[in-house]
Amino acid sequence: MSNPKLTLFPISTTINMKGQLCVQKLPLTDLAAQFGTPLYVYDIATLHHQIAAYRDGLASYPAASQLTYASKAFLNTALASLLDQAGLGLDVASLGEIFIGKEGDTAAKMHWHGNNKSRADLDLALIFEVGCIVIDNLTEAAMLRQFAQEKGKKIKVWLRINPDVAITTHHQYTVTGTAESKFGLTLDEAHDLALQLIAPESPLDLAGLHVHIGSHFMEAEPVAQAMARLFELAAQLQQSHGWVMREFCPGGGWGVPYHPDDAPMPITPFVQSLVQAVMQQCAHHQLTLPTLILEPGRSLIAPAGIALYTVGGRKTAGKSRPQISIDGGLADNPRPALYQAKYTAMLANRAHDAESETVRVVGPYCESGDILIQEVPLPLAEPGDILAVPVSGAYHLSMSSNYNGSLRPAVIFIKDGEAKRVQYRQRLEDLLEGQVNPYR
Ligand SMILES: Cc1ncc(COP(=O)(O)O)c(C=O)c1O
Repeated sequence: MSNPKLTLFPISTTINMKGQLCVQKLPLTDLAAQFGTPLYVYDIATLHHQIAAYRDGLASYPAASQLTYASKAFLNTALASLLDQAGLGLDVASLGEIFIGKEGDTAAKMHWHGNNKSRADLDLALIFEVGCIVIDNLTEAAMLRQFAQEKGKKIKVWLRINPDVAITTHHQYTVTGTAESKFGLTLDEAHDLALQLIAPESPLDLAGLHVHIGSHFMEAEPVAQAMARLFELAAQLQQSHGWVMREFCPGGGWGVPYHPDDAPMPITPFVQSLVQAVMQQCAHHQLTLPTLILEPGRSLIAPAGIALYTVGGRKTAGKSRPQISIDGGLADNPRPALYQAKYTAMLANRAHDAESETVRVVGPYCESGDILIQEVPLPLAEPGDILAVPVSGAYHLSMSSNYNGSLRPAVIFIKDGEAKRVQYRQRLEDLLEGQVNPYR
């Protein structure tokens, strides 16, 4: 019987005759030997598979739709190019993401989020020709209006609305649509602001409304509830002032299984339920169907990624379970420390071996919280074995750090049977970048 953990690995994962985990037939241990560990390996076939699942869902929408990728999940120039080629736009949340993204994708296909954009950032965003700016708050709206007036440019905007709708995610820090959350305008604020923006003399072009109520959730109902509040607002604005909502974005946030016990979370029926909700709302309020824009991050990229680590020492004395140390953890994946996120793992070089003990997996950093996995059944792990952690594609490297002077890992993309390094492992010299020592 095959190991249920395998269902969490990328779709092109197999085990060869030597018991090695392979992606697109390439043994992960060979990649670890060639590029060193910690190493992040992405199966591009899995990314395309996830994109296709979203597109299948959107196919039931009779008007225009656009899939964008929430680049905060993970971004580099190679990924931006692949997404551009697949026709996706980018959801960006900082000037840095715009800067990286525009090396591969066109800035016109980006919409820019963030709850504290600066005037200097706006200047550069205009030079980069970012397609749409998502207004998060009234201060920003005032600044943006003044900015557009000064530049004599009509700037396309959406309003990000905080609908005060709760949703269950894996951690309170990933709930973004309740009144307590730092994001978005209240419905009342949005209504009054919209009236100013749709006035003929307004230098801003209010094209649509946006809502994103959380990340890594597994239920569609609260999203539909949040959407209903936005459609109510759109209907009011249409009735009172003839404003037509041309674009509508219900955000991202669909979860992924991280653990063999997690239920599978098919994307297509979730997207179909969003489509149904938009169509019902439009029919109910007699609104024209807007262009429907989705912005998933995790569910597109997390299942494509595997993190590889080399096993080092073992401890058992005084421990509730045996503990193995690996050469990465908190610095490349802060999610377990930040959100108590749970992972599983296999040995990439001994994938057929029986799992004979349950261990705790810890990283090398000077923090007791540097525990990558609290408990995972594994074969008796030896120093030099390669630990493969699936579902590592999202919110690891984009949240990574140089803690303890660690070097950010290399990244490999496997596409059409070929492995290509798209990011080098940082070198020691990189740690000195930007530092000035006037005291030497
Ligand atoms: C505005 C916005 N859209 C989309 C996303 C993507 O979320 P996820 O990666 O869970 O799909 C996020 C992340 O929380 C976000 O803040």
